Amino acid sequence: MGPDLLFFLLLLLLLACPGSSAAGPGVTARTLSPCYAADLRPAAGSLVSAVGCTVLLTTPGLKATKAAIWEYKSGPWEGAIVSYAFDGPANTSQLFENRTRFNETDLSLQLVLQEGDDGLYRFRSEAEATGWLQLHVIEPLSEPEIVGNSSVKEGGTTKLVCNVLEGKADLYWWKKNGELLLGSDHIQFVANSTLCIVKASMNDSGYYECVVRNQVSQNETSFLLHVQNSANVVLPVILVCVIVGSLAGLFVWCKRRERPCRSGCRAPEVSGQ
Ligand SMILES: *[C@@H]1O[C@H](CO)[C@@H](O)[C@H](O)[C@H]1NC(C)=O
Ligand SMILES: *[C@@H]1O[C@H](CO)[C@@H](O)[C@H](O)[C@H]1NC(C)=O
Ligand SMILES: *[C@@H]1O[C@H](CO)[C@@H](O)[C@H](O)[C@H]1NC(C)=O
Ligand SMILES: *[C@@H]1O[C@H](CO)[C@@H](O)[C@H](O)[C@H]1NC(C)=O
Ligand SMILES: *[C@@H]1O[C@H](CO)[C@@H](O)[C@H](O)[C@H]1NC(C)=O
Ligand SMILES: *[C@@H]1O[C@H](CO)[C@@H](O)[C@H](O)[C@H]1NC(C)=O
Ligand SMILES: *[C@@H]1O[C@H](CO)[C@@H](O)[C@H](O)[C@H]1NC(C)=O
Repeated sequence: MGPDLLFFLLLLLLLACPGSSAAGPGVTARTLSPCYAADLRPAAGSLVSAVGCTVLLTTPGLKATKAAIWEYKSGPWEGAIVSYAFDGPANTSQLFENRTRFNETDLSLQLVLQEGDDGLYRFRSEAEATGWLQLHVIEPLSEPEIVGNSSVKEGGTTKLVCNVLEGKADLYWWKKNGELLLGSDHIQFVANSTLCIVKASMNDSGYYECVVRNQVSQNETSFLLHVQNSANVVLPVILVCVIVGSLAGLFVWCKRRERPCRSGCRAPEVSGQ
């Protein structure tokens, strides 16, 4: 019983500290400001950052006196970003050329992110290696574009579509004159990027804003919708009728006066020839 229990406790202890012999402590990563709306807090294990932003990778203080290497792994590709042998200049891989800054004092690495940098990162010395850090590189959202008819007749239905031109949105929402729009029979959201206004009324006129968001950014654009009052259609028709009517009246009135007027005008003309 005694030795069995001891063995069981030892096994438990080993299970409680996995990887202590394989990978050392992890890399700490942080996105440097400014970087859209990305989270700037330091993270271990995994970090979400954005294209165009700078991340700072710091080592947990591994023993390194002969060699220091920052490594990158993505799919089948695996290799050194920067290798440093303490006796000469650091050697940077062509893939990361001109966008890294290696600090020879604290062995940290700054990297300006590109689209293909999604992957795993770790630090290795001649003796030890850290665990892999997962870096997610997301494209920030550009200003979206709203496509639709800016003029709708009262009682009609209109559709506004919000298109994201750069990046991928995780979330869409709509505002009208700065206030969040909620769905109803009258205001419908179709496939999240489309706003449908059913039986438009005069007070649906206004500025519609589409807000898009992903993990690193938020952007928005607005669109002026004008709902035409049916009276605006009727009024011009009435006006046209009135004008036509008056012209007709004038014409009749003129026709009646035509004879005396014309003879009066023609008299000198005839006498001149
Ligand atoms: C730099 O590293 C590359 C491979 O990553 C190697 O081919 C090259 O010889 C190295 N240059 C120096 C100066 O160490
Ligand atoms: C890095 O900059 C140097 C000098 O400006 C240039 O010759 C080289 O082509 C650049 N490398 C990359 C990968 O852009
Ligand atoms: C390198 O790191 C040290 C220690 O953190 C810091 O004092 C120094 O300013 C850094 N050098 C550069 C060029 O960033
Ligand atoms: C929205 O996108 C435009 C480019 O389309 C960019 O200039 C602007 O900074 C972005 N706004 C935000 C808040 O990210
Ligand atoms: C926009 O709507 C108005 C009124 O409903 C219509 O007369 C016009 O043809 C529409 N324009 C487009 C480009 O669909
Ligand atoms: C869009 O809406 C569908 C359901 O209609 C939902 O499953 C999906 O996650 C939404 N996508 C985005 C990007 O909001
Ligand atoms: C908009 O018009 C409807 C009737 O067409 C009315 O019930 C509603 O209160 C109006 N809303 C506002 C904000 O004026």
